[in-house]
Amino acid sequence: MPNYETITLEVADGIATVTVNRPDKLNALNAKVLAELTAAFVALSEAEPRIRVAILTGAGDKAFVAGADISEMSELSAAQAKVFSDSGHRLGLVIESAAFPVIAAVNGFALGGGCELAMCCDFIYASDKARFGQPEVNLGLMPGFGGTQRLSRRVGLTRARELVYTGDPIPAERALALGLVNEVVPHAELMTKAREVAQKIASKAPLAIASCKRVMARGFDADLSVANELEATAFSALFDTEDMREGTRAFMARRPAQFTGR
Ligand code: COA
Repeated sequence: MPNYETITLEVADGIATVTVNRPDKLNALNAKVLAELTAAFVALSEAEPRIRVAILTGAGDKAFVAGADISEMSELSAAQAKVFSDSGHRLGLVIESAAFPVIAAVNGFALGGGCELAMCCDFIYASDKARFGQPEVNLGLMPGFGGTQRLSRRVGLTRARELVYTGDPIPAERALALGLVNEVVPHAELMTKAREVAQKIASKAPLAIASCKRVMARGFDADLSVANELEATAFSALFDTEDMREGTRAFMARRPAQFTGR
């Protein structure tokens, strides 16, 4: 893996941990962070041996990501802002199209681009100190990395409008009640929780997990009959994998399955 300046990347037992590492700026997303995160998720997608799960978090005790970098944005022209927004969207697509699940471990502020980044992940565990929000309207701006779209898909249009129009941050428990996060855990236990779930997913057949991820993501916005067709195609393709034969035979032999990703 290449060296990065604004993020750190560790891989152990097929589980990658990607950490945005600008704690003095509350891990704000500037162009460099966006480029490095995108490069890291592309590299993880191509890694051999295969990455089974990634955990995305922020350095320090205070923030996951406190938004796009306001000082960098303040000087952008409209054309430069389009490039910046496009690069945030590209990162989201790379995370969403990775062949492994990405778990957001939200350890503090997830505001603006931070909330948008977490919503690109498959699911979110939040520390009880976390706060979520889309405060862009306080800056004369609007969400630019997918917040106007992914938030309503997660929590419904009415609640998303309230959060986007008021800019108010919400505590982790409220985010849980809205269905934005999967679970809230005590701050000190956040990474243990994320790793436990990552290990459980990493023990399953990776091609099956990759197919579940692809079909659930692509099917969500599609017509139901098209989405079910996607499912049937992906389901049947798994019958050509060694892992499917291994999993079904192991069940019948009452032994644990040994999945190889083939
Ligand atoms: N972009 C750039 N820098 C940011 C940032 C952002 N989104 N969020 C925080 N920082 C920087 C601060 O400027 C400060 O840097 P400095 O020490 O060099 O002055 C440092 O991170 C610490 O932030 P600070 O504001 O002092 O911490 P706080 O605990 O008082 O407040 C927040 C925390 C999250 C409430 C506050 O930083 C904030 O409102 N940030 C912006 C959130 C936002 O609007 N995000 C959406 C952007 S589109």
